[in-house]
Amino acid sequence: MIYEGKAKVIFEGPEPGTIVQYFKDDATAFNNQKKGTITGKGVLNNRISEYLMNRLNQMGVPTHFIRRLNMREQLVREVEIIPIEVVIRNIAAGSISKRFGIEEGTALPRSIVEYYFKNDQLNDPMVSEEHITAFGWATIQELDEIVALSLRVNDYLSGLFLGIGIKLVDFKLEFGRLWHENGDMQIVLADEISPDNCRLWDAKTNEKLDKDRFRRDMGNVEGAYQEVARRLGILPESGPADVQGTDTVQ
Ligand SMILES: Nc1ncnc2c1ncn2[C@@H]1O[C@H](COP(=O)(O)OP(=O)(O)O)[C@@H](O)[C@H]1O
Ligand SMILES: [Mg+2]
Repeated sequence: MIYEGKAKVIFEGPEPGTIVQYFKDDATAFNNQKKGTITGKGVLNNRISEYLMNRLNQMGVPTHFIRRLNMREQLVREVEIIPIEVVIRNIAAGSISKRFGIEEGTALPRSIVEYYFKNDQLNDPMVSEEHITAFGWATIQELDEIVALSLRVNDYLSGLFLGIGIKLVDFKLEFGRLWHENGDMQIVLADEISPDNCRLWDAKTNEKLDKDRFRRDMGNVEGAYQEVARRLGILPESGPADVQGTDTVQ
């Protein structure tokens, strides 16, 4: 084991330069003040993230994803994580609504990109490009690449989700540096893309299909994650029963 985070455990991979992400059912919100478990979440997020990362790879967005190993584990390339959480917003919800007094559900005039410094002790403070470059978390060139990739991911995922009756309200991405044998460095998409870090609303009813159901005690959190997987067409063959298991089984 290399690291235990809030939602995943990271293990050394079978080959150098690889790691294994193990998806837990643990859920946290408001920087760890609220804790709980969402039964089957790890299994679903493993599948959902596999699906979305594969689709993005096919579209030419470089990602860390190699392959899913089993119900709860996936093999990914080890990268040097850039300590910035990139948030892309299409519709006002959560903190942007609070900070600026914009009613939740209001379409934003254009997609808005925000950065947060990834540091639990400091509560992931919002930062500007100035902070990121001045403190050396990323260079201007790296940040340009990160924004360009984030907007491509946003365009692609917005369309993908709309096609299955879901609005991509906002989401968080993490990026890392991947070094190639010839010494070249490439910025790649890392971590996960799942209902844990996306706001996903039913396109017709605006019903929430994401972690806000946990944050706001709305109930049926598992059902919402399952619905996203079902609409993506990736629920395990045997149906929801399969995702209840907590073991790592093939
Ligand atoms: N390809 C990768 N290489 C190295 N670290 C990664 C990679 N992808 C994700 N990570 C890191 O692994 C951790 C994933 O576990 P998670 O439970 O999400 O942690 P956290 O509580 O820090 O959010 C995160 O800190 C994330 O930045
Ligand atoms: Mg995380």
